[in-house]
Amino acid sequence: MEPSVVRTVAQLDDALMPSRLASSPVAYVPTLGALHDGHASLMRVARRLGDVVVASIFVNPTQFGPGEDLQKYPRSLDADLDMCSRENVDIVYVPAVETIYPEGTQGITIDPGPAGDLLEGQRRPQHFRGVLTVVAKLFAMVRPSHAVFGEKDYQQLVLVRAMVHDLCVATDIVGVPTVREPDGLALSSRNRFLDPVQRLAATALARALFAGQSAGSAGAEGVMSAARAVLEASAGVEVDYLALTAPDLSEPVEHGPARLLGAVRVGTTRLIDNVSVSLGIDSP
Ligand code: PAJ
Repeated sequence: MEPSVVRTVAQLDDALMPSRLASSPVAYVPTLGALHDGHASLMRVARRLGDVVVASIFVNPTQFGPGEDLQKYPRSLDADLDMCSRENVDIVYVPAVETIYPEGTQGITIDPGPAGDLLEGQRRPQHFRGVLTVVAKLFAMVRPSHAVFGEKDYQQLVLVRAMVHDLCVATDIVGVPTVREPDGLALSSRNRFLDPVQRLAATALARALFAGQSAGSAGAEGVMSAARAVLEASAGVEVDYLALTAPDLSEPVEHGPARLLGAVRVGTTRLIDNVSVSLGIDSP
């Protein structure tokens, strides 16, 4: 069945009324659109979790900094709706900016706390304030029992989990592994900006992260030097950061689970990626 496309809160409420009356689980996938197989994988997980699956497509202006790619962010509503239909999404919410920010963008916002200043937050100062604010608004509109996020944006996933915990939001946050191209490059809406030479160079980030992951048994230093070696040997890739953290983004312990995260620039395109690492333990 074709999904219902709704644009206002009243239309969303109408579409969700039967599920709310029946108290049935509502699984939600928020997106910026320009959908690819990474988003499809989230929708498949949502399909298993919810009696009703809602996806939203909203290019949220407040999470883009000055000089970032808000204007040129890819928009492809028809193709996006086709994907939602293929993945059996029931309701696609496509709000206008005025529906999400009726009072303008200067109203009350969500402070991401200290973890919002690390990594991406250091390079993109208001980014996570914008992300958490729009996610909180969308959650208040959709009122999902479950919301599905990708590990691809690992810091975002950690912060959304923290927000839901700290603000007692009754939504289960479900993380989904990163979907990759056969050569390892994480799927991203921004990959379409890479020319063929840059596309090849871009694989260095995933190769570096996997080299780090394989060096887990050598400890933190071993992980970092293995990853760094790959990036240093790669032309056309400018490293923004490479960081090893605990899974909650705090300082890593010497043994056990950790996260290796990186951001690079390839030409004018900025790419992020991350992998899990087991420190002091041989990787599988
Ligand atoms: P967007 O970049 O469209 O991503 C929507 C969701 O898809 C996020 O949870 C993201 O982590 C996930 N995703 C992206 N690429 C993926 C991949 N290769 N594999 C698995 N999942 C992937 O993230 C946002 O939008 C926005 O910040 C949003 C949460 C919608 C708030 O505006």
